[in-house]
Order: sequence, then structure tokens, then C-alpha cells
Amino acid sequence: MKILVIGKGGREHALGWKVSSSPLCKKLYFLPGNGGTATIGQNIEGDYNDFDFVKSIIDDKDIDLVIVGPEDPIANGISDYLLNSKSRIIAPSSQVAFLESSKIMAKRFMKKYNIPTAEFQVFVDYNEAVRYVKQIKKWPLVIKADGLCGGKGVVIAENAEDALNTIDDFMKNGRFGAASRRIVVEEYLKGYEFSVFAFVDGDGYTILGDAIDYKPALDDDRGPNTGGMGSVSPCIFLTDGMKREVKEKIIERTIQGLGSEGLHYKGFLYFGLMWTEDGPYVLEYNVRMGDPETQALVMVDRRDWLFLFTEPSSLNGKWPSYNRTCVEVVLVSEGYPLKYEKGFEIQGLEDVKDATVFHAGTRIMDNKLITWGGRVLNVVACGKSLSEAREKVYREVKKIRFKNMFYRRDIGDEKRWKGILS
Ligand code: AMP
Ligand code: GLY
Repeated sequence: MKILVIGKGGREHALGWKVSSSPLCKKLYFLPGNGGTATIGQNIEGDYNDFDFVKSIIDDKDIDLVIVGPEDPIANGISDYLLNSKSRIIAPSSQVAFLESSKIMAKRFMKKYNIPTAEFQVFVDYNEAVRYVKQIKKWPLVIKADGLCGGKGVVIAENAEDALNTIDDFMKNGRFGAASRRIVVEEYLKGYEFSVFAFVDGDGYTILGDAIDYKPALDDDRGPNTGGMGSVSPCIFLTDGMKREVKEKIIERTIQGLGSEGLHYKGFLYFGLMWTEDGPYVLEYNVRMGDPETQALVMVDRRDWLFLFTEPSSLNGKWPSYNRTCVEVVLVSEGYPLKYEKGFEIQGLEDVKDATVFHAGTRIMDNKLITWGGRVLNVVACGKSLSEAREKVYREVKKIRFKNMFYRRDIGDEKRWKGILS
């Protein structure tokens, strides 16, 4: 099979790496890819939101399968556009992209199909939102912009002042344009966050894995939220009973709900979940794989994903079990996600022996590998236990050098789960 992977981050490098290990993969292209993907396939420069251009690549290179990484081409309708092309495409249609691109529609969908999620109110009118927040007694409260805001559209308001400022910012000042004119205000849930990833085709699905993401920039979950500073896979506290509950209450009700709405879902589906005193709750859906979780998942799971994506009998709803744990540390440019510099040479990668490195913000210039983004590299190591994987990954990370390199030191530290691990 000739495969085209769309995107340029660590997630796309990992997806490409995974499918390239399959005997079914004959040729691999990336649009546009990065400094790492260039070592396992051919990078093609260009804009993946220009669907005519994507179609011309499919025709020119005789592509059999397109795998779409990021959410924006999905929300822009890449799947619908390529429906009649000769290639198969792994990306849900724009009709189901609402699960990620509209918090309001996603919450209403969950309510309709009895999928556990935080209690919520929708506001389209600024004055009504202000009135509602002024009479709230129980804090914190979570305020979410309806549309896609690049991960910045969720605010946990600790008190009325915070909440009113956020409502001003989102609804009145239109900080994210149309995406934040309408909001969801929801109950704050206490618990342990984790994510589950499925590959769905209609009413069939397979679970690709589960993981934990570290969003805040600094140790002990301090600092601003980022795209992700590290990951652990599988999720360390999930028991078989918990997995059963997630399948029954969340995954299956979601898939049945989509079917009842007459919607055909084909692609990755990412469940952002919270394990609470009352079991699993959905925080969000994403219609794509997670970044950086995918980089850990592809290492944990030894199955052939290209086979899973193309063989209908693998859509059997099974939750895979693993005999190892992976810890992933994201190396970033100091200052990320706010202000940072780029263009520095990366050294030491050839010394990394006991970990796999997926590239995110890198590029090759004058035959040198240089930093070209906030998140630069993803280093993933596996071990029989969490502590073995953690020791390995931090040992390997120390071999890599670039100016202003920064990373969290507490990825995979058990203290995070002391209330839930028995
Ligand atoms: P979302 O984009 O909806 O996943 O929200 C981003 C982050 O905000 C999540 O990863 C959680 O850490 C947090 N969050 C979202 N909704 C809630 C909630 N109802 N209760 C507590 N934390 C939440
Ligand atoms: N790691 C979070 C995300 O991909 O949205």
C-alpha cells in the first residue's frame, strides 16, 4: 500500500513509523512532515488544507490510504472532499466533526444518549451568562468556548470574578472570534484524567489503547496548559472492571448514538475522560488521535495498525492488553507555550539507544537538524514496569542537547495517582 500521512507533528511521525513497520506498507509520504519523518518517508511541501492539492498528490503518487493527523482539515471537510477519490481516507466526515468542533453539540449529544458527562448549561446571550454565574454558590466552575480554540478555550474559574472575566473575554470581546461567542458552563469534576483511543468504522471499532497526558508546562501540573508535555501508556490505574464500564457507558453508547443519528463515523475517536467517584465521565471528544499520546501508544502496542485499519475483522471492540509500559517525555523550547526561540542545532540523537525519538518541531537546514517549534522532540522508552520505563527515558533524554531545551521531570511519577492506585 502507498500511504500519505497528513500533518507535521510528533503524532504524525509516530503514525508513519507505526504503519511503515507493517509488511503491507510499500511507500510512505508525509504532507508536510518534519525533520524526523524525512528519515522514514518522503516529505511533500504544501498546505494540507488545500484539498485540491491533496487530491493531486493522491493521483500523482497513486496513494491507496490517507491518514489524517490534525483536526483542522477534518473540520474543514477533507473526508467529504476526498470521498470519491481512488484512495481510502482515515478521517471522519465533517458531519461528525461536531464532536470536537462544537462543545455545545457534543454535550447535547452526550445528554441525549445518556453518556456520563458533567452537568451543563449553554449560553448564547452574554447577559444571561452573567446572571447565571452571579448566583452560583459552588466553585470552581468550568467555562468552555463552543468552537475550536487551539486548546485555549477551557477555563476553570475559581470564583465569580474569574468567571465574569472569562465570559467578558469569550462572549463580549470575542477573544476567539465566533468560536467563543457561545459557551458551555459546566460542573467541575474531581477525579483522575485519562484518555482512550479507538479506530471506528460505522458500528465496528477497535481500541488502539489508553494513556495519560500531561498538559501543564511545569512539574506538579503548574504553569500554563500546553499541547502536552509527556505521556504514560497504558493508563496506570485502569482495571478490567473500569475498562468494562468505559466500554459500556461511553464507547458503545457513543457509537450507538452516532448510528441512531444516521451518522457514519470512520476514523480515530479520542475519548478525554475523568475517572470520578461515580465512574467514568467524558470531558471531551476529539475526532483524531492525541498528541503526544499517540507517540507512546504506538510503542506500547505491538499489533500491526495498518492491518487493523484495513481488515474489517479487527473491528471487534477488544481492549488490548500489554506486557509493558511506556513513558514519553516531550522536549520543548524553553518558554513554550508562550514565547520561545527556534533555529538551534539538535545534537546527541545518535547516542540514544534505549528509547525511540519522534520529531515534532524540527527541520533539516544545511544538513543540520534544528529546532523549529515549541514542542521539538518526543522521547519514548518502554519497560516491564512504570519505574523501569521512567528511569530509562530520563537517562536517554540527558544525551540530547539543544539550546534552551526544557522538559518536565515528573512524567510517570506515581505520586500523581496515590489516591487511586491500591
Ligand atoms: P477539554 O478541552 O474539554 O478536555 O478541557 C481541557 C482540560 O480542562 C481537561 O483536560 C481537564 O483537565 C479540564 N476540564 C475540562 N472539563 C472539566 C470538568 N468538567 N471538570 C474538571 N476539569 C475539567
Ligand atoms: N494531548 C491532547 C490532545 O491531543 O488534544
